[in-house]
Amino acid sequence: MISIKSEREIKLMREAGILNYKTHEEIKKHLRAGITTKELDKIAYNFITSHNAVPSFLNYEGYPASICVSINDEVVHGIPGKRVIHDGDVVSIDIGVAIHGYHSDAARTYIVGEAPLEVKELVLNTEKALMEGISKVREGAKIGDISSAIEEYAHKHGLSVVEELVGHGVGTSIHEDPDVPNYGKAGTGVTLKAGMVIAIEPMLNLGDKEIYMLDDDWTICTDDGLPSAHFEHTVAVTKDGYKILTGEICDGEE
Ligand code: MF3
Ligand code: CO
Repeated sequence: MISIKSEREIKLMREAGILNYKTHEEIKKHLRAGITTKELDKIAYNFITSHNAVPSFLNYEGYPASICVSINDEVVHGIPGKRVIHDGDVVSIDIGVAIHGYHSDAARTYIVGEAPLEVKELVLNTEKALMEGISKVREGAKIGDISSAIEEYAHKHGLSVVEELVGHGVGTSIHEDPDVPNYGKAGTGVTLKAGMVIAIEPMLNLGDKEIYMLDDDWTICTDDGLPSAHFEHTVAVTKDGYKILTGEICDGEE
């Protein structure tokens, strides 16, 4: 079942999205070589809870932390721990924030210090692939329009698309219908309606698309050990386009 949110619900989800954005900004301030992933998790937990909000991921299906921190060959769902971040690391930060029971989901990938050009391009082009996907969102468009835009952009830039993990609806649960794959055919799939809210989240690899899961039952890694990048926004469908609920704060919003 795909839920349609009222204007009031979209407002609440934007509130959650704004705090999600601010939490990302807070993490960005602290992200540098020498910090542990557990310290980043703690910063996010303290920031979110001090704003009377809830970290959506904490205890979600047993997930043991507030954010996911996935480094280099880790694609998504890296569990924060004692691991120290080093210069040249590709670090994906995924954050979920809930306010009044409404969730928001957003991810960014950073390079700490310097990295080879192809790695910089992996990160830049994954963010651009997300924006290509978002640009297709409006009432009447199909999920496949988003999927194919992401896939085409990725392939045009020599990147492979992780297929086992997909974007999703967002609302009173962090994961709702429909699935939003990062590959597919334009003109196919669910038709978007104003009031739907979806998380679009390309996971693109520098090498091959194949992945495996670590023994921790969460962390997803690339088979070939090459780096992966992940960007995600929670996006509301409107009559004539979209609103990025986890996007930067505009004039008139606090
Ligand atoms: N953004 C992640 C996703 O959609 C959220 C993961 S929830 C977690 O898959 F609990 F697994 F971290
Ligand atoms: Co998500």
